[in-house]
Amino acid sequence: MLLTNISRLVTISSGVVENAALQIESGKIKWLGYASQAPASREIFDCQQTVVTPGLVDCHTHLVHARYRQKEYAMRAEGKNYLEIASAGDGILSTVQSTRAVSFDELYEISAKRLQEALFFGTTAIEIKSGYGLDIDTEIKILQVVQKLQREFPLTIVPTFMGAHTFPEEFKNRRLDYVHLLVMEMLPAVAKLGIIKFCDVFVEEGAFSPEEATQIIEAAKKYKMECKLHVDQLTPGKGAELAVKLKAVSADHLENISEEGIAALKKTNTVAVVLPGASFFLGVKPAPARKMIDAGLKVAISTDYNPGTNPSLNLMLTATQAVSFCKMTCDEVWKGITLHAAEALQLEKEVGSLAVGKNADLILWGAPDENYPIYRYGRKSSRHIFIKGKKC
Ligand code: NIG
Ligand code: FE
Repeated sequence: MLLTNISRLVTISSGVVENAALQIESGKIKWLGYASQAPASREIFDCQQTVVTPGLVDCHTHLVHARYRQKEYAMRAEGKNYLEIASAGDGILSTVQSTRAVSFDELYEISAKRLQEALFFGTTAIEIKSGYGLDIDTEIKILQVVQKLQREFPLTIVPTFMGAHTFPEEFKNRRLDYVHLLVMEMLPAVAKLGIIKFCDVFVEEGAFSPEEATQIIEAAKKYKMECKLHVDQLTPGKGAELAVKLKAVSADHLENISEEGIAALKKTNTVAVVLPGASFFLGVKPAPARKMIDAGLKVAISTDYNPGTNPSLNLMLTATQAVSFCKMTCDEVWKGITLHAAEALQLEKEVGSLAVGKNADLILWGAPDENYPIYRYGRKSSRHIFIKGKKC
């Protein structure tokens, strides 16, 4: 199939082609360039002067969970902070309770609706973390929901095990025992599913210490899981430095990264994933993305979709927040929600930019240029979405 009449083809990796065309074969991009030089094709799709970009890559989400927590949002508005709410047994643990209680079928149904919502806003590849089970059965239930989403949806879905999201109630005073359970029982059990690509740990006061995280990640590597970390989110904790030490594929959050942390990340391939939607929603200062980019770090942007700190799957809205709130340029943001996000998932050979051989994951925007959908925030500006060459 040949897509013609493209006003601007935004490749991300090699600039913008005006008056362009793009050829798709077997779900992949076979050719792209000036429309005047396009190969002949029996099947033509007229893009009607739309702008075409790659599909969006949301590289950090907690999509599978049961109940929402709007009560907590209201509590914060009345002056309680996130850590106070968490230590009162609300926060992550209340979602753990509701996610344990729900059946597989119900959990699948609500998660499928959310994935549909992400697709509606243009996400065509997405990472999904477990971490609202914190016991073997529920972590497996969540990951099996992710596995079923992989079967039922055309999106590229990357599963991450995050049994180290926080300490469950029953292990509150037995931290060592929970780490032991994670390493000796949960990791081997989830690895058997054969789908887990990453292991993530929330390194924070009240969650896991750097030493505990090291133990968990080293065990995960034995099961061929790569490392991701939630670090320096609520308090500064030398998290970026830890990510470097553990050779993390990405270090996520980084709202409180230090100068030393930036310098440490600079020498590595670790992608810095910033989550301005979570800072916006919590009303706190965002990660210093401008400083990180100026220092030469590779910065990706993601929603961090979850019921506590960002209940939005609109990655284009997050893009606006990254421009207005983190002082990133529109070009940097486009890279952050496509190619760099793909790198944070080690998927850069398949998705995240428009190049021959990559997936034909495309968004056709009813917009005069690619900055317009960022500028017209909160609105759905896309007209059509293609995944692996098929219109969704
Ligand atoms: O990425 N930081 C830890 N985890 C989530 C929040 C989870 C929740 O509040 O349910 C985050 O912000
Ligand atoms: Fe997160």
